[in-house]
Amino acid sequence: MSKILVTGGTGYIGSHTVVELQNNGCEVIIVDNLSNSSMDVLEGIASITGKKPAFEKLDCCDRKALAEVFKKYPGIEAIIHFAAYKAVGESVEKPLMYYKNNLVSLLNILELMGEENARNLVFSSSCTVYGQPDVLPVTEDAPVKPANSPYGNTKQIAEEIIRDTIHADRRLKCIALRYFNPVGAHPSAAIGELPNGTPNNLIPFVTQTAIGIRECLRVFGDDYNTPDGSAIRDYIWVVDLAKAHVLAVERLLKNRNRQGVEFFNLGTGKGLSVLEILDAFEKATKVKVNRTIVARREGDVEKVWAEPAFANKELGWKAETSTEDMLKTAWEWEKALEAKRR
Ligand code: UD1
Repeated sequence: MSKILVTGGTGYIGSHTVVELQNNGCEVIIVDNLSNSSMDVLEGIASITGKKPAFEKLDCCDRKALAEVFKKYPGIEAIIHFAAYKAVGESVEKPLMYYKNNLVSLLNILELMGEENARNLVFSSSCTVYGQPDVLPVTEDAPVKPANSPYGNTKQIAEEIIRDTIHADRRLKCIALRYFNPVGAHPSAAIGELPNGTPNNLIPFVTQTAIGIRECLRVFGDDYNTPDGSAIRDYIWVVDLAKAHVLAVERLLKNRNRQGVEFFNLGTGKGLSVLEILDAFEKATKVKVNRTIVARREGDVEKVWAEPAFANKELGWKAETSTEDMLKTAWEWEKALEAKRR
């Protein structure tokens, strides 16, 4: 049974990945500072898998505390590093907070990988590194474009830090997963996305509007060069995304001789506009979403969707869940949250 350290394991993508790891027989140790998640998530995970993962509340920027985790749980073979701040707008206002948190934590992990016998890293990157790609669907060898925000820049710099570190220390290996737009929740509705305050991302804003917490969804721009004028993204179900992490860990552990860092796009290969997502949500749930068209949001790209062929072939992974099915899980999760609020 492989022992896997998951940083940010009580977060949105982290918690879904912990479930898939446990379902595949891995022993999971979560570290999280709970800055954007809660201990309740551990109960949610346990209710799905029948097992509560080991948990250490700590900040990955605290090198000493992180080092102690490796001592307490000897034999960690791989690390999945989710722990990071991810709000684009906030990063513009607090760039140092983003650079410090997202990069110092990574530096600590890479240093400890060199010192401990944990040589394998799966890193959470983002399609944001491509900016507005010149060619769509975007492949992994598309050029990295200047970042639109400090958040995006932390992902670009992190990829470079990983590349340089692994080049210098051939014992270390990494798979960097470039996520497109993760949405939805576990079908059990026991875990899901827990936005802090007003959601920035589209789907939690949609579900909160549908349930009546928000009055109206603002569609950011209808004058893009797209068929209906709204911006296009590649929405991928969070459970499909989580499964790719298990395959990435297996790939690292199986191929002990393969060196270096690999990059994979995790998307469906299908782009959907904001208006198409709203239609799909209404069709899937039979609930109307009050909306209004407003100006474009600063920093948004017009359209981006993935070419997932490399992940399909090399990881043996494919996102197969339909848009309506993934949106249904987002809605079930919002209703479960509402039931708790009452
Ligand atoms: C962006 C980044 C992504 C990053 C994520 C972190 C890109 C292409 N994507 O996602 O890498 O991980 O932020 O949060 O840079 N929208 C509305 N109304 C809303 C909210 C969103 O119309 O209230 C629209 C946006 O303009 C966009 C789409 O919905 O076209 C998706 O937005 P969002 O969910 O925020 O994700 P991205 O901005 O694509």
